[in-house]
Amino acid sequence: MSPCKFDMFLILYFKCFFSLSMNSKICNFKYTNVDEFNLNSNLASQLNQDSCISILQQNMQGMNDFTKFDDFSLFFLSELQSSIDIIVLPETWINNENEKYYNIPGFKQINSSRVGRRGGGLIIFFQSKFDVEIIEKNNSQLSFQFIRISIKLSQVERLRICAVYRPPVADMKEFRNFFESVKENYARSVTIILGDINIAINKSNTIVTDYKNLLASSSFEVINTFKTRPASEIILDHVICYTSNFLEITNSTIFNDISDHIPILSKFTIKSKKQKLKLSKNILNHTHFHQEFYRFLENLTLEADPKHTY
Ligand SMILES: *[C@@H]1O[C@H](CO)[C@@H](O)[C@H](O)[C@H]1NC(C)=O
Ligand SMILES: *[C@@H]1O[C@H](CO)[C@@H](O)[C@H](O)[C@H]1NC(C)=O
Ligand SMILES: *[C@@H]1O[C@H](CO)[C@@H](O)[C@H](O)[C@H]1NC(C)=O
Ligand SMILES: *[C@@H]1O[C@H](CO)[C@@H](O)[C@H](O)[C@H]1NC(C)=O
Ligand SMILES: *[C@@H]1O[C@H](CO)[C@@H](O)[C@H](O)[C@H]1NC(C)=O
Ligand SMILES: *[C@@H]1O[C@H](CO)[C@@H](O)[C@H](O)[C@H]1NC(C)=O
Repeated sequence: MSPCKFDMFLILYFKCFFSLSMNSKICNFKYTNVDEFNLNSNLASQLNQDSCISILQQNMQGMNDFTKFDDFSLFFLSELQSSIDIIVLPETWINNENEKYYNIPGFKQINSSRVGRRGGGLIIFFQSKFDVEIIEKNNSQLSFQFIRISIKLSQVERLRICAVYRPPVADMKEFRNFFESVKENYARSVTIILGDINIAINKSNTIVTDYKNLLASSSFEVINTFKTRPASEIILDHVICYTSNFLEITNSTIFNDISDHIPILSKFTIKSKKQKLKLSKNILNHTHFHQEFYRFLENLTLEADPKHTY
């Protein structure tokens, strides 16, 4: 994975915070259009050494007629001046026989389309050079759909990406089951969950509370903070992760008019194994250690006398 260019500053709307305890920096940016994004992201700071991954997600609200996919391709290939590693497109509505017609040069696709039924649908595109393994795919005909993949970062590390489309009517139980299976391995592999969850995270109601509590039970959180469905002023598309796995995260919500949702571009700098180890290192108190050692030696001498008569 290549080093990341981070999109920095001079933007009217942004929120950043630096978590000292977690040693992570998290920034949310909002752009009113792609030009504003391009202008400001050119003032990028370059971070070396670390694995960086950039993911673009956009709910398509149907792309059967190809024009929306063409619009998206134009946005992504010519307008957006940023390298993208992974693309997550929920609500493709594509018939399962037609996925083969949806291609992006330099990328491969994994789909979870509905068979013989309209609606839903989910596609992940990833750069062809990546070593990707599909962990699990659920192309539920009626309800919650997801694709879980694992990407090789190095000889020893893999990154897990879960792309999700959860229809508004889906039972929370399904999300719970999904999250339980995601959790099983999250301590070993860095995991990012992205997609259209259809829970308006910025409202307060019992579903939102349950959802946040479920994520928090494993220290996961929704990190994007700007509305993704402008017409209803709500945040339905989420980027979810355990933030302390990352050195830096930026989420850019960029306004476009491809569908009723707007895209989020997230860049993650993953802490290397070394950095994680450093954080959990115990500091040896040499003074204490020496005192204990001398006491131990003194005990040896005392005990040795009566038992052994040399
Ligand atoms: C981006 O993700 C980080 C990670 O937690 C989060 O803290 C931040 O608020 C997010 N920013 C945006 C613009 O979504
Ligand atoms: C879409 O997914 C189905 C089911 O897994 C698979 O058989 C098909 O080959 C996939 N289509 C493409 C274009 O990858
Ligand atoms: C896939 O989705 C269907 C329908 O929601 C559900 O019954 C099934 O348990 C799911 N499978 C997995 C592995 O989550
Ligand atoms: C959150 O939702 C309310 C409506 O419930 C809306 O008025 C507000 O602007 C939203 N905030 C954001 C950041 O999207
Ligand atoms: C190290 O150990 C000594 C002796 O037990 C103790 O007095 C001192 O406070 C310890 N130092 C730290 C930094 O814990
Ligand atoms: C010294 O010996 C006593 C009695 O056997 C024991 O309780 C104590 O832990 C020993 N101290 C050390 C430093 O080994």
